[in-house]
Amino acid sequence: MCSIIGYSGVGKAAPLLVGGLQKMEYRGYDSVGVATLNSGKLLIRKGIGKVEEVNKSLGLKEMSGQLGIGHTRWATHGGIIDSNAHPHSACTTNLAIVHNGVIENHQELKEELLKKGHVFKSETDSEVIAHLLEHYWALKNDIKEAMMNTCNRLRGSFAFVAVFDDSTLCAARYDEPLIIGITAGGYFISSDVLGFLDYTDRAIFLDNRDIVLLEGNNLSIIDFDGEKVERTPTQVAWELADSDKGKYAYFTLKEIYEQSHTIFKSMQQKKESVETFCDIIANAKDVFVTGSGTSYHSALLAKHILSKYSQIRVETVVSSEFQYSSELLDENSVLIAISQSGETADVLQSVKAAREKGAKVLSIVNVTTSSLARLSDCFLEVKCGPEIGVAATKSFTSQLSIIYYIADTIGGNLTGISTNRMELSKAIEKSLELESKIAEFAAQIKDAKDIYILGRSNHFPICLEGALKIKELAYIHAEGIAAGELKHGPLALIDKNSVVIILNPDDSTYIDTLSNAHVVKSRGARLIGITNKPHLIYDYCIPIPYVKESLLPMLEVIPLQILAYHLALHNNANPDYPRNLAKCVTVR
Ligand code: F6R
Repeated sequence: MCSIIGYSGVGKAAPLLVGGLQKMEYRGYDSVGVATLNSGKLLIRKGIGKVEEVNKSLGLKEMSGQLGIGHTRWATHGGIIDSNAHPHSACTTNLAIVHNGVIENHQELKEELLKKGHVFKSETDSEVIAHLLEHYWALKNDIKEAMMNTCNRLRGSFAFVAVFDDSTLCAARYDEPLIIGITAGGYFISSDVLGFLDYTDRAIFLDNRDIVLLEGNNLSIIDFDGEKVERTPTQVAWELADSDKGKYAYFTLKEIYEQSHTIFKSMQQKKESVETFCDIIANAKDVFVTGSGTSYHSALLAKHILSKYSQIRVETVVSSEFQYSSELLDENSVLIAISQSGETADVLQSVKAAREKGAKVLSIVNVTTSSLARLSDCFLEVKCGPEIGVAATKSFTSQLSIIYYIADTIGGNLTGISTNRMELSKAIEKSLELESKIAEFAAQIKDAKDIYILGRSNHFPICLEGALKIKELAYIHAEGIAAGELKHGPLALIDKNSVVIILNPDDSTYIDTLSNAHVVKSRGARLIGITNKPHLIYDYCIPIPYVKESLLPMLEVIPLQILAYHLALHNNANPDYPRNLAKCVTVR
C-alpha cells in the first residue's frame, strides 16, 4: 500500500521525511513526493519512480523547512503518472495532504466539490481530501472543525496527514495504520514505526476515528466528534530498526539466509500465551485457519500439521473468500488468522466476519502492534524481525515453526520441532550452501515460459509457495500442482518446452510422486527433483539434507526461494520490489 509520513520539529524536515519513506518503501514504490512549509509557503516536489531516483532528479532532501509531509504510492485509483503522485494540494496551495487507503465515496464527493467550483488536478480518490479540507477551512477558518467535517464525510479506509500554511500539521485514521513518533525535538506521524525508528522508540499507536492536531510543540488528539482522546505512549522494540541489507545485495537474499536462526526465535513464546492459544483451539467446536498469499500457504500446512500431529480437525479458507463461507461459525468456533503484517485487509475482513458470528480469534502475526494483533483474543508472535523484501520468505518458515510448536503442545511433541530444531537449522544452512549451484541452474531455465511444481500431501502447499515466489519475483508463469492431479487435466500442458520441478523427498509420498515424474518425463519435459533420495529420472537434482519427515516442508521451500531469487536477477527484476506489488495489502 502507500506509505505516509509527516514531521514537525526542530530538525530540517525533508531529509527526515525522505529517510523515513525509504524505510517504508516496501509499502509501495510507484511514485514519491514531499511537501514542506518554508516561510509560510508550501513547496511540493513529486514524481514517478523509487525514492532514490526521485530524490536524485528532484532534490527532495534539499527542500527547506521544519514541517512537511511525504508519500510513496502503490497505485489504486489513477495511473502511475506525476500528477497522481502525492502530496495533493487543493485549488490554492495553502494546504497539502498525503493519503493511504481508498476513499469509496470519492466520486460522489468530487461531483459535489466540482459544483462548488473546485478544480481537480489528478485522477486519484485522495485528492477529494485536500478539497474537502480547503472547503471546510475556508468556511469557518478553523482547522480542527475542517478536520472533523472532512473525516465525517469520508467513506472507506484512510490514514492521511495534512500540512497547512499556518504551520499546523494534522492527521487522521480510519482502518489504516498511523503512528506518532515522539522525539525530543518534534513529532513524526507515519504509517509504520520504521518511518521514525532511527530517531525514537517512543510511539503512540492511533486508533480508528483519531484526529491528531499539531501546532508547534502542542499535540492533541480528538475523535471525529471533537471529543478529547487520551492515548498512552509505548516503547517500540529497537530490534525493529534492524532493517539494513548488511553484506547482502538485496533484503530478500538477506532474509532467505536469516532463516536458519529465525525459525528458533518463533519458538520463544510466552508460556501463558501458548497455553491460552492451545486451550482455545483444543476446546473449540471447530477450527478455521485463514491467511492471504504466502500466509495462506502456511494455513494450508496448518491443516495437515494440526490434524496429523494433534488430531485437531481444521478447515482452511483463503482470506479473500472467508466472508462468503463464514455461515458455519458460531460462538464455539475459533478462527486462526495468519499474517506477517497484521494489516492485510482480506485477513481483517475475515476476523470481522468471524467476530460477527461470535467466534474467538487467534492470530499468528509478525507485527505485534498491528490491527490483527489488537483484534485477537490471543496472538503468538512470529518474531522473524522486519521483513523488508516484498516477497515473504523468513516470515513463512517462522509461521510454520509456530504451527509445528502449537501442534506439539497440543499433541505431545509428535512433529519433533523442538527436539530436532538444531538438525533442521543445520539442514537449512546446508541448503543455503547450494546457492551458487542453484544460480547456475536458474540461468539455464530463465527463459522458461511455464514452470510447474509438483508434490503431494504436506509438500503441496510448498509447491504453491514456490510457484508464488517464481511468479512474483521472476515474472514467470508458475503453477503448483498436487502431483496426483496431473492426470486429471494439467498433463495436457506438458511438452518438451515445460520445466517441471518435483518435490520428491524420501517419505510416504516418494513412490507415487516418482511415478508422476516418469509420466512427465515421457512427455519430454525438463525435470528437476528436490529430494534427499536422488533418482536418475531427474535431469537436474537439488539435493536436500535429511531431516525428520514431518519437518521436510520447512526445508524444501529454501531451494525454491533461492531459485526464484536468481531467476529474478537473471530476468533483470529487482527481487526486493516486484512490479505492481506492495508488502502490505490494505485494500480488498
Ligand atoms: C507473497 C507475499 C504475499 C503476502 C500476502 C499476505 O510473497 O508476500 O502474498 O503473503 O499479501 O500478507 P500478510 O502475511 O502480511 O497478511
